[in-house]
Amino acid sequence: MPNLPFRGWLTFKAEADGVIAGRILNRLTQIPGVPSLWLRYPFGSVETRVRYGIFDRAHYAYCVYAAADLAKRLGLNSISAIELGVAGGRGLLALERIAKTVGDSLGIRIHVTGFDSGQGMPAATDYRDLPYVWGKGFYRMDVAKLKAELSPDTELILGDLKDTIPSWIPKGSIGFVAFDLDYYSSTKTAFGLFENDDSSTRLPRTYCYFDDLIWPEHACHSEYTGELCAINEFNREHDDKKLSPIHMFRHYRARQQAWNDQIYVLHDFKHPLYCKNITLSSEKHSQLPL
Ligand SMILES: C[S@@+](CC[C@H](N)C(=O)[O-])C[C@H]1O[C@@H](n2cnc3c(N)ncnc32)[C@H](O)[C@@H]1O
Repeated sequence: MPNLPFRGWLTFKAEADGVIAGRILNRLTQIPGVPSLWLRYPFGSVETRVRYGIFDRAHYAYCVYAAADLAKRLGLNSISAIELGVAGGRGLLALERIAKTVGDSLGIRIHVTGFDSGQGMPAATDYRDLPYVWGKGFYRMDVAKLKAELSPDTELILGDLKDTIPSWIPKGSIGFVAFDLDYYSSTKTAFGLFENDDSSTRLPRTYCYFDDLIWPEHACHSEYTGELCAINEFNREHDDKKLSPIHMFRHYRARQQAWNDQIYVLHDFKHPLYCKNITLSSEKHSQLPL
């Protein structure tokens, strides 16, 4: 046994156990069927399950967890998690469950909001909306059916985004936004969420998931149409706010999945909390002893 004080030994042992458990989980989750079995019987901490993507909509779970963790480090007690484009509601219901699980685990109140026309896709505006893939009336919602399933705490805001977004006030700082509106034009309108002069309406770094960067293959997604075009224009139009993927994000993941490349962060450089140091004193990378 190394000659360490008792607490030091305990920390050393816990870290060693963690490394061994991590190696075993890395191997196990490569075996086909194991992640879905784990999803069915969800043992282990929420943090571990987020790390291995053991959630219905692992991408939502990653972003909600990262946003709630950021809020906690900043000393905030609530955030908002939003789905833009709800359709039948499977994503919003998954988000609701994730918000409850993560919120209970981290002690952060997570308010959930879904935005949708309620009547399916509006008409495409021009070629940038990829009208050769999507069209008016796709993905209609059964409003009564969805409302009956949703928790009374979840907000479902119906109407065209150009009418609903400008007047909406979040109940907690926006920490996560799932963009699933298919069109360039709707995504551009949705970026209005980030235009509020009151920066407390969002975290200094807001986690975003963009659904329509991949699939269907015949969409031939490019920087000149769809969500990518809207993101590039947003970045060109804003000096102090940028939407950026997390550089080399997939290399942090225990299990690499396509959604790793669909995660962006809205950096709000002028946000009063942007530069607040969030490294905890207990985290080992704050010192580098010999
Ligand atoms: C692909 S569906 C969303 C699917 C959903 N996120 C899921 O995971 O099941 C896209 C939705 O975006 C909504 N939508 C697109 N443009 C919109 C706009 N301008 N205003 C409101 N809703 C819009 C449509 O009504 C449609 O239901």
